[in-house]
Amino acid sequence: MSLPSRIILSGFMGTGKTTVGKLLARKLDYDFVDTDDLVVSLSQKPIARIFAEEGEEMFRRWESMAIDQALAREATVIAVGGGAVCFRDNLDKIRKNGQLVLLKAQIPTLLKRLSADDSRPLLQGEDKEGQIREILAKRASAYSRISLQIPTDNQSPEAVVEEILRVLPLESRALRVELGERSYPLYFQKNGIESLNLLLQRHCPAERVVLVTNSVVQRLHGAKIARHLKRQHDLKTIVLPDGESFKTLKTVASVYAKLVEFKVDRKTPLIALGGGVIGDLVGFAAASFLRGIPFVQIPTTLLAQVDSSIGGKTGVDLPQGKNLVGAFYQPRFVLIDEAFLKTLKRREFVCGLAEVIKYAAIFDAKLFRGLEEHMEAILKGKGAGLEPVIRRCCELKAWVVERDEKETLGLRAKLNFGHTLGHAIESLTRYKKYTHGEAIAMGMVYAARRSVERAGLPEADVERLKALIARAGLPTEMPAFPKAAYRKALMQDKKRVSSRLHFVYLNKIGKSVVIPTPLDEILV
Ligand SMILES: NC(=O)c1ccc[n+]([C@@H]2O[C@H](COP(=O)([O-])OP(=O)(O)OC[C@H]3O[C@@H](n4cnc5c(N)ncnc54)[C@H](O)[C@@H]3O)[C@@H](O)[C@H]2O)c1
Repeated sequence: MSLPSRIILSGFMGTGKTTVGKLLARKLDYDFVDTDDLVVSLSQKPIARIFAEEGEEMFRRWESMAIDQALAREATVIAVGGGAVCFRDNLDKIRKNGQLVLLKAQIPTLLKRLSADDSRPLLQGEDKEGQIREILAKRASAYSRISLQIPTDNQSPEAVVEEILRVLPLESRALRVELGERSYPLYFQKNGIESLNLLLQRHCPAERVVLVTNSVVQRLHGAKIARHLKRQHDLKTIVLPDGESFKTLKTVASVYAKLVEFKVDRKTPLIALGGGVIGDLVGFAAASFLRGIPFVQIPTTLLAQVDSSIGGKTGVDLPQGKNLVGAFYQPRFVLIDEAFLKTLKRREFVCGLAEVIKYAAIFDAKLFRGLEEHMEAILKGKGAGLEPVIRRCCELKAWVVERDEKETLGLRAKLNFGHTLGHAIESLTRYKKYTHGEAIAMGMVYAARRSVERAGLPEADVERLKALIARAGLPTEMPAFPKAAYRKALMQDKKRVSSRLHFVYLNKIGKSVVIPTPLDEILV
């Protein structure tokens, strides 16, 4: 079990930071330090006196220094006051240097634990309940940004320690998509299915869960997941036919019918197990059924792991075009397990690699160099050891989604690099000849060529991109349809604004720009 070297426990007074912290430290053979004790030793004054003589602001300065001291230690459990984590700079340095755990308790529990305690400078006077409510209300928004929260009501300190140790290995490696109250974690774990019950319990507790997958994934992975889920849940399963051609309103209607039959209520989570098709469709069903029920993504293709499972775009196709109906609806969590990739057909794996190359080309020159160095090993491993690459793509996607969730600011639009022509190719070949990844691979090479003139991309970078795409086993040259046919296909682009398209260009490998461009300047 790999644990962070510094585990920082925070929480309101009375949540048990010190007791739990000492127990946890003993169990892990870590040191324990309480930043309140460091404040006393730094200031040479008891905390009550600092408050009385210097005021709370000065106390916060001492506390910040104490946090710096504590974070300089290794293998240490650090108890930090519940007010400290409400300050951005404290929170930033804590997150950078360790794993933060917030202990929680309901107000009656806090009152019971604090009623006889008169040593708290922030809780003086008769109306303790009123004061607790007031302070909690002030801290609510800061606390809501802490992902790992452990309830302590009716729990012994030993049980709280056990719970921390159960979730810490997963949480300490999780990434978080920060979207206020719609924030959610991305968990990375090989054979992570074994943690699914625990994660469901933490993020969407319910007796009944509905697993939605397709016939291919069900055959390969369904039984194992069902066995695990059944240990703690009343499991219902929906198996849909495989393929993009079933990403339709008709299939969504069939899902609704099953959900009614299963007596699904507003708390029942839908678990989307599959590639982008299942993720998009189940997400849309979850967004719309009962006006929104919880949903969880377990992406099983590379494309879904690096792209479609993150960011909340859900939807289905219409006969008139792809993804024309949908909603922005974020999952409760995403569980990413590279082990699924083992059973993926090579062509589907490579399709996902096209998206990985896309992230590198538009945002991350270092990732691009890494892919150049290791492409053959990546192809050979088919997922094995790919987690750092997947993780980096997820970081980039999360970063984009946090800043431009609904694609209104032009940043999320950069993820469409290669997609304008890619979509045109898919539509001209009726979605049969090429996978999505193959189509965007050709689209990326085309966009890179256009970038030389429009965005100053060096010719050498076009060649690097083309070479990497070819080494991944993806095509680089667009099929030879007449220009008029491409023009017609581009006119159907969802992102068209009058006769201009928001076209994504590269300035250099790792840097991109969106320029509204007339159709005739795209198709030269
Ligand atoms: N929501 C978004 O932000 C977003 C982004 C990109 C793409 N998409 C959508 O994603 C879809 C494409 O996703 P995709 O490429 O994952 O396609 P997909 O879901 O059709 O999966 C590809 C194939 O792989 C099979 N498969 C899935 N997991 C497997 C596994 N572990 N082992 C063996 N076979 C497995 C599937 O059954 C399918 O046949 C498109 O509908 C696209 O519109 C959505």
